[in-house]
Amino acid sequence: MYDFDSITDRRGTDSIKWDVDENELPMWVADMDFPTAPEIVNAFSERLNHSVFGYGKLKTEWFNAYINWWKSRHDFEMKKEGLIFCSGVVPGITSIIRHLTAPGDVIIMFSPTYNHFYNCIQDNGRRILDVDLNFSGHDYSIDFKKLEDALGKSDAKLMIICNPQNPTGTVWNRNDFERIGELCAKYSVTIVSDEIHCDIITPGTKYTPFAAVSETCSNNSIICIAPTKAFNLAGLQTSAIYVENKILRKRVSCAIEKDELSMPNSFAASAAIAAFNYGEVWLNELNEYIYKNKMIVNDYLHREIPKIRLIWGDATYLLWLDCTSLNIDSKSLAQRIRKETGLFLMAGSYYGNGGNGFLRMNIACPQTMLLDGLDRLRRGIESINTIE
Ligand SMILES: Cc1ncc(COP(=O)(O)O)c(C=O)c1O
Repeated sequence: MYDFDSITDRRGTDSIKWDVDENELPMWVADMDFPTAPEIVNAFSERLNHSVFGYGKLKTEWFNAYINWWKSRHDFEMKKEGLIFCSGVVPGITSIIRHLTAPGDVIIMFSPTYNHFYNCIQDNGRRILDVDLNFSGHDYSIDFKKLEDALGKSDAKLMIICNPQNPTGTVWNRNDFERIGELCAKYSVTIVSDEIHCDIITPGTKYTPFAAVSETCSNNSIICIAPTKAFNLAGLQTSAIYVENKILRKRVSCAIEKDELSMPNSFAASAAIAAFNYGEVWLNELNEYIYKNKMIVNDYLHREIPKIRLIWGDATYLLWLDCTSLNIDSKSLAQRIRKETGLFLMAGSYYGNGGNGFLRMNIACPQTMLLDGLDRLRRGIESINTIE
C-alpha cells in the first residue's frame, strides 16, 4: 500500500501551484500534491548518483516502455518506428501547429477544452474554430452536425482533440472517434489527439486510444502521450508523439527537430521507463484514491453546497463544477472565493465557450487537504449568499 494521505509541504520548492500566500490553498494548475511513485524516485537516484550528465540518447527500453504499456494497459499495439520523443505535450502541439499549418489557418477544437490549446494557436497567428460540445446538464457529447459544418465551411487544416477531455473529464468512445476520424478524413483535416490524461481514470473504466479505432483514424492522426500527468512528473519535460502514417510522421519529426524538442535531458527517458515499467501498482492505487476523492466531493456538494453540482467525468483529477445556478461569471466567482477563503480554483471561462459559470478544481491531494478545500468552497459560496 502506498501512502497518499500524508501531506508534503511544497511551499518553497519553486512550485508554480504553491506560489501563493500563507493562508491560501491552491487547487488550480494540473499537478498533484502526492510524491511520485517511489520506483521512479529510485530510478532518478540511480541516475543522479552516477553524477555525470550530458546530451541524452534514447535507448530501446524507452520505446519498449511505451509499447508495452499501451499494449498491456490499453490494448493498443504501437509500432516502434511510430514513436518520437518530444520534450513536452504543449511544446509538441505548438511545433505541429507551426510546421503543419500556415499563419491564418483554421484549427478546430471541441470546447470547453484545455486553455493552453488556445494560447498555442493564437500565439502562432492561427485561427480557432470552437465546436461547442453539447451539454445535457449532466454530461457532454459531440454535436456531429456542428462538427461537419465547421469542417465543411472553414477550410481547416488541423483539429485538436483532448482524449480524455480536460476540463470535463469526459472519456470519449470508439463510436465518437470513428465518426470524427471519417469526417476529418473526408475534409482532409489532420487530427492531433492529446492523450496525456488517459491513465487517470475511474477504476474499471477504459480509455480508447484514438489511433486504435480504425485505419482511417490511425492514418490521419498525431497522438501526444506522456507519463507526466499520471505519475506527477509535470515540468520534467518528457513526452512522446505517436504517428503511424509514415509521411505524416516525417513531417512531425522534422517539426520537432526544427524546434529543438527532440533531445531528452538526463532524467526524461529514465522517468518514462521507470513509470511504465514499474509504476503500475502505484498508479492503480492512485486511481482508487482519486475516485474516493471524487465521491467525497460529490457527497459534500449534495449535502453542503447543493447550488454547485459536480459534472461527473470518469477521467482526470480535475473536477468540473457547475455553478451556473449562482448566475455569477466564473472569473468573479473564483476571485471572490479566493479573496474570502484563500481557495484558488480555475475559472471555467479560461476553457473557452461553455466554460463560463463553471469552476475547475484539482482534487489530486491528500483527503485532509481536500476537506479543507471543500470547507473553504462552502464558506466562499456562503459569503456570496450573505452579500447578495
Ligand atoms: C490536456 C493537457 N495537455 C497537455 C498538458 C501539459 O503537457 P506538458 O507539460 O507535457 O506540456 C496538460 C497539463 O495540464 C493538459 O491538461
